[in-house]
Amino acid sequence: MTGYFRSVDIGNLHLEGNVFAAPMSGYTDRVTRGLALFEGAVLAYTEMISAEALIRNSGRTLSMMNRADGEAFLAVQLFGSSPETLGRAAVLATQSGADLLDLNAGCPVSKVTGKGAGAALGREVERLALAVEEMGKAGLPVTVKIRSGWDEGKINWSEAGHAVVEAGAAAIGFHPRTRRQGYGGRADWTALKKMSLELPVPIIGSGDLDSPLSVLRMFEETGCRAVMIARGAIGNPGIYSQTRKLLTTGILETPPTPEEHLRVARFHLNAAAEEFGDEITAREIKKHLVGYIKGWPSAAELRRELMMASDIPTLMTLLNEES
Ligand SMILES: Cc1cc2nc3c(=O)[nH]c(=O)nc-3n(C[C@H](O)[C@H](O)[C@H](O)COP(=O)(O)O)c2cc1C
Repeated sequence: MTGYFRSVDIGNLHLEGNVFAAPMSGYTDRVTRGLALFEGAVLAYTEMISAEALIRNSGRTLSMMNRADGEAFLAVQLFGSSPETLGRAAVLATQSGADLLDLNAGCPVSKVTGKGAGAALGREVERLALAVEEMGKAGLPVTVKIRSGWDEGKINWSEAGHAVVEAGAAAIGFHPRTRRQGYGGRADWTALKKMSLELPVPIIGSGDLDSPLSVLRMFEETGCRAVMIARGAIGNPGIYSQTRKLLTTGILETPPTPEEHLRVARFHLNAAAEEFGDEITAREIKKHLVGYIKGWPSAAELRRELMMASDIPTLMTLLNEES
């Protein structure tokens, strides 16, 4: 069991471990990545960043690439449809300090796929490969995050995987659900196992990692080289330290108590307010805070109160009252 926490090389980057924080739009901002890294994630992807917006030089977009505290390697995820635009955005991200570039070829949201990006790029394998080539010209390791296909009738992970490796991808993040599945049903870990056997680059497994044990199980069952935790880390950054402990020592710690969760939630709230200001934080932080209280007996009432609160002091009072 202790063999699963291992270093991994992605292109020229040597990472001292293989448990990563997955990109999550609207979630993996600078503060959340900092928390994940503090707790033991080895790499934390930015949320997906529009290549077009980056080229337009939008200030908000640029700030999404600010390095988090403790972020040894900044992994920037880009989305777009035009290989040329993605190539130009890759250069800008590199100039902004990125150490690794990831291409989103899996986002299922219609607003994104409707423009040929995300999962729509994933099904157009030639364009996808061209995009990897263009991004590679920036000189950083390029990774690609793909799904298993568009729907059950159009499973193309193998073709897409081979094509991006041929185009120079240094690793592949694989979320083995189809676009049609969205985030429902189960991820197909057998496809992840097959990909790990088929391709010569590190495969980073994603899908249904909701506990340290599930991460161990993914390593055992699929042989993937690394994992990225997504929803399982929302309001639960301690999952990284517990997972590392399990993978390195075999010890499964008892899950954090509600008081411990609240302590981290208050820290998260303060750090976000400092980073983004009170107004934005009051609006954006609630999805994180309800994650911290998920599953408690008293969660329904507190969740309602948190969702109704409109300023930081009220949110803080609610988090204090519960402890
Ligand atoms: C709210 C949310 C936002 C996401 N945003 C992104 C994104 O920006 N880029 C990306 O590649 N994947 C994104 N994902 C997918 C996750 O990285 C991950 O692959 C997926 O959630 C499967 O893992 P899970 O079942 O453990 O949650 C997102 C998922 C969620 C739930």
